[in-house]
Amino acid sequence: MVTKKDINIYFSTKKGQILLADSLDILRSEKTSSVDLIMTSPPFGLVRKKEYGNVDADEYVEWFKLFAKEFRRVLKDTGSFVLDIGGAWNKGVPTRHLYHFKLLIMLCEECNFHLAQDFYWWNPSKLPTPAEWVTVRRIRVKDAINCVWWLSATPWPKASNRRVLQPYSDSMRVLLKNGYRAKKRPSGHDISEKFQINNGAAIPPNLLAIPNTESNSHYIKYCTDNGLRVHPARYPAELPEYFIRMLTDKGDKVVDPFAGSCVTGEVCERLDRKWLCIDMCEEYLNGAIGRFDKSNDEPKPDSETYYKIPRPGILWNGTTYDPLPKDGGASRPNSKKNK
Ligand SMILES: C[S@@+](CC[C@H](N)C(=O)[O-])C[C@H]1O[C@@H](n2cnc3c(N)ncnc32)[C@H](O)[C@@H]1O
Repeated sequence: MVTKKDINIYFSTKKGQILLADSLDILRSEKTSSVDLIMTSPPFGLVRKKEYGNVDADEYVEWFKLFAKEFRRVLKDTGSFVLDIGGAWNKGVPTRHLYHFKLLIMLCEECNFHLAQDFYWWNPSKLPTPAEWVTVRRIRVKDAINCVWWLSATPWPKASNRRVLQPYSDSMRVLLKNGYRAKKRPSGHDISEKFQINNGAAIPPNLLAIPNTESNSHYIKYCTDNGLRVHPARYPAELPEYFIRMLTDKGDKVVDPFAGSCVTGEVCERLDRKWLCIDMCEEYLNGAIGRFDKSNDEPKPDSETYYKIPRPGILWNGTTYDPLPKDGGASRPNSKKNK
C-alpha cells in the first residue's frame, strides 16, 4: 500500500493537489467515507486502442471494478460518483458495444452504487463519425452523445437542482406572459395552474448541450507557449461544473482519479471546493499546471449559449424516395449516385 511519504505531489494549491500516480494506489490509501464527489471521465473502452491508456471494451468492466470498489469505499453516504463515458462500435460492423451499459449494471449490482439519474451529454459540434457507417454507407446517424452516469452511495445523495437552473425557453416565456388554461394533456398528465408561476428560471432536463470546441483557452495557450502537448480527450469545464455545483458545497472534497489535464481541479479551485486530481501520465500534468497560473484570464467561450434542436420531421416532405439497401449496407456503395 502507498504511504503518505511515497506520494508524489506534482502540484498543489491551498485547495487542492495534483498527484502523478496510479489512482488505484492512491485511492487505496484514502480514508473511508471521506469524499463528497468523484467526478471523472476515465479512458473509454475502445475496440481500437487510443493513446491514453484505453482498455479493450471486452475487458473494461473487470478493469474498472477494482477502481469502483475503492470509489464506493471512499465516498461519504451523502456523496456522488459522476462518470462521463462514451460508447464504442463493434469492430467491422455497424453495431454498438454494450460495455458502458454493462459497466453501469456492474456498478449498481456488484459495487453497491445507486443510479441517481442517467444524463446524456450532447456535443453539438461532434463530427459525423464513424465515417464508414455515417457518411459513406449512410446507414447510421452521427454518434454525438456521451452517457453521464450519476451514481450515489445511498438513494439520498445531497443535491439541489436550484444550483443548475437555466433560462426559460421562448415558448415558456410566452406561456408565462399570456397565461395557460389548466387542463389534462393527452398523455394524462395534469397541467395545473402551478406551471404558470414564474420561478425566474427553468429546471434543466437530463440532456446537457455542451460543445467540446475549446480552442482559445488559457490552457491551450499555456501548452502552446511552453511546447507542451494538449490533452487529446478533455471534457469541457461546463460538464464537471454542472455536477460540482449541483452536488457539493463550498469546502467539500472532489476527486478526479483520471484527471488528464485537470479540468475538474480548475473548476473546483474557482468554486472553492477542495480537490484531488490524479493522473499517471506526466506529459498531461505538465500542461495541467497551466490551469492554475495566477495570470489565468479565461476568455469567454466562443460558442453558442443556447441550442435549438430541429424537430425530426422538418424535411419529411414525402417527395424523395430512396429505396433502402436490401443488404442493410453490407456492401460498400461505389457510385456517385449514393451520395
Ligand atoms: C479521458 S482522459 C481524462 C481527461 C480529463 N477529463 C480532461 O478533461 O483533461 C483519461 C485519463 O486517465 C488517465 N489514466 C488512465 N489510467 C489511470 C490510472 N490508473 N491512474 C491515473 N490516471 C489514469 C490517462 O492518463 C488519461 O489522461
